[in-house]
Amino acid sequence: MQWKANWIKPIEDFGDICPLFSKEFISDRPIKAAKLFITSLGVYEAVLNGNRIGNFVLAPGWTSYAKRLQYQEYDVTSLLSTHNQISVTVGKGWYRSRLGWESFPEQKKLQAAPAAFLAQLEIFFQDGTTTMICSDNSWLCGKSNVLFSEIYDGETYDASYLPVANSPVETFEGPFSTLIEQQGEDICEQEQLRPARRFQTPKGEWVFDFGQEVTGYVEINLTAKAGDKVVLSHAEVMDKDGNFYTENYRSAKAKYCYVCKDGKQTYKPKLTFFGFRYIRVDQFPNGTQSANLENFSAIVVHSALKRTGHLSCSNPLLNQLFENIIWGQKGNFLDIPTDCPQRDERLGWTGDAQVFVKTAALNFNVEKFFTKWLSDMSADQEEDGRIGHVIPDIIKDGGSAAWGDAAVICPWEIYLAYGNTQILSNQFNCMKKWIDYITSHTQDKNLWTGGTHFGDWLGLDAPVGSYKGSSREDFIASAFYAYSTSLVIKAGKILGEDVSQYKVLYKNITSAFQNTYPEYMTQTECVLAAHFKLAPDCQSAADQLADMIRESGIKLQTGFVGTPYLLHVLSDYGHTELAYSLLLREQYPSWLYPVTKGATTIWEHWDGIMENGDFWSPDMNSYNHYAYGAVADWVYGTAAGIKTDENAPGYEKVIICPNPDQRLTWLKASLETKHGLIRSEWKKKDDVWQYEIETPTNTSVSIANQTYEVKKGTYIFYSACDK
Ligand code: BGC
Repeated sequence: MQWKANWIKPIEDFGDICPLFSKEFISDRPIKAAKLFITSLGVYEAVLNGNRIGNFVLAPGWTSYAKRLQYQEYDVTSLLSTHNQISVTVGKGWYRSRLGWESFPEQKKLQAAPAAFLAQLEIFFQDGTTTMICSDNSWLCGKSNVLFSEIYDGETYDASYLPVANSPVETFEGPFSTLIEQQGEDICEQEQLRPARRFQTPKGEWVFDFGQEVTGYVEINLTAKAGDKVVLSHAEVMDKDGNFYTENYRSAKAKYCYVCKDGKQTYKPKLTFFGFRYIRVDQFPNGTQSANLENFSAIVVHSALKRTGHLSCSNPLLNQLFENIIWGQKGNFLDIPTDCPQRDERLGWTGDAQVFVKTAALNFNVEKFFTKWLSDMSADQEEDGRIGHVIPDIIKDGGSAAWGDAAVICPWEIYLAYGNTQILSNQFNCMKKWIDYITSHTQDKNLWTGGTHFGDWLGLDAPVGSYKGSSREDFIASAFYAYSTSLVIKAGKILGEDVSQYKVLYKNITSAFQNTYPEYMTQTECVLAAHFKLAPDCQSAADQLADMIRESGIKLQTGFVGTPYLLHVLSDYGHTELAYSLLLREQYPSWLYPVTKGATTIWEHWDGIMENGDFWSPDMNSYNHYAYGAVADWVYGTAAGIKTDENAPGYEKVIICPNPDQRLTWLKASLETKHGLIRSEWKKKDDVWQYEIETPTNTSVSIANQTYEVKKGTYIFYSACDK
């Protein structure tokens, strides 16, 4: 891409008001094609002759801006006429918002940037000539209707005046060397939900419930007088007394203010987003009681990912859990994988993505999405190999076990899911450097001791007052050191790289681990020792785990680190029935407990709302945190039994080994792969399990300890139901 355009910014300081840039031009010959290339420091909305350009909201998306800034290309041929006006509104977006719960220096630097943009419109005429309309000092600017827009705090829009662009702009040395063409998926409006109900709380406030926690914004439709105001607040849950609860948004104001024009009107914010299920009407023309169901709809916004996986079964609570996992992913896959979409974080926490990536790649096609995010990870990796806690790395701190390991685990899972070695070659250097970082930062050779870690984050065996479960941090760090090294070896072999040094390292870590940690003290320690094949006797580690769970009354205690592998370890070592007992448990703690409390997404805490209705402390209590949704990969991979052969990844060769349980009478899973649709279904019929398997390619099917090699087709199998 040859940029002829200049970065431009307003000369006048508009403060919080988003500038509107504008340019009029004539195009007096028949047009063959016209393309617009555009990006901004912030987020932009571009309009040509009154029509919004493209469906991408919150463009140019979020990347590690200091290293990579995406631009978009739009075909605008059909929007041009003879007399044209192009206008661009620039909001703070991720670039210039106060991201992070405190003022991180990296973000402070970005925040100081001007509300600027860069655009180049290339017009190709039918007579073979071309022209270019570039951002330069011939543009004008003014105050747009967006008086305020910020990621955490929301948006204020005044529709009561017509904006005028009559102030000059100036060109400046904006970033060119960091510009890249768009690498990720578009962020688009995906669905529209009407409120399920309107009610008045005990405090007398009017609240609308969309019936589903979503990420996006509310569209308002109303008839009003110029100057009338609509003010809305957002919330995820109502408190014990039925009142609107916003404390867990922490400092994020998440406010939406709209000043009306005369007449019938519709508005939706486009330069920010909110995570919410409920809105409270704080102000409305003729009083808050006059707002009704027709005035609002929720617009769901996320990256345009293709849905690939579906799960359903005979248990309605479990079906709701599956739905919640999907909604958790929708709500948190808005250009980068975020921890949550509502409070003053919404950051690309590496640990959360690592925990969920396998499930994510089953539910939706996330290859392109992760390719972009992992490119940001490589770009942000420190010289010494350290990986930030969040990517884009606005915190400039990192190096936690299981969080930094996202550098290795995410590319590996994406490779397995889609069978494309490109992600491994893109990331191999970053993967190795992460291992080398550990090697050069540990206190004890061949283990990972010392350092600052998040431990088994939010594990239920946490000492009072701590967020970290009681599994030993050195144990977790050393276990992930071993596991990530084993994946670097596998990836290197696939790429034809020399991995001899990592093979020696892996052997040394395994033996140091076994010598240092002969005993396992917690559920998570058993899980890691068995799942990462570090225990000298994995069966006995899994048996110990099963005993611990039974002795505790079928209660899991695992946090972010142990939970994703918990059911796998049980079922891999003969405790499938116990794995189902955990999955189907409805009392706290369990995956279904939040469902019994009305959850529509996955909670950050097993007890986000406690049995007595109280909340966990507001400082760390999100109701849309996808991490524990990682359990879905066990349902696809073990309950329905669909897996890819690691030696023929991307489901080039499929392995299907269903594991039915008497407590469900049927279960269905399907997965759209690049080879075609895979389906595994089982149901109980007259004390016999009937399995229906559809596969697009060579497949090993294992039923009741018998393995059958089959080709593309649909097959029915039977096995006896054990009582
Ligand atoms: C985030 C988590 C994250 C964690 C790190 C939290 O504030 O919301 O999901 O992984 O910090 O410990």
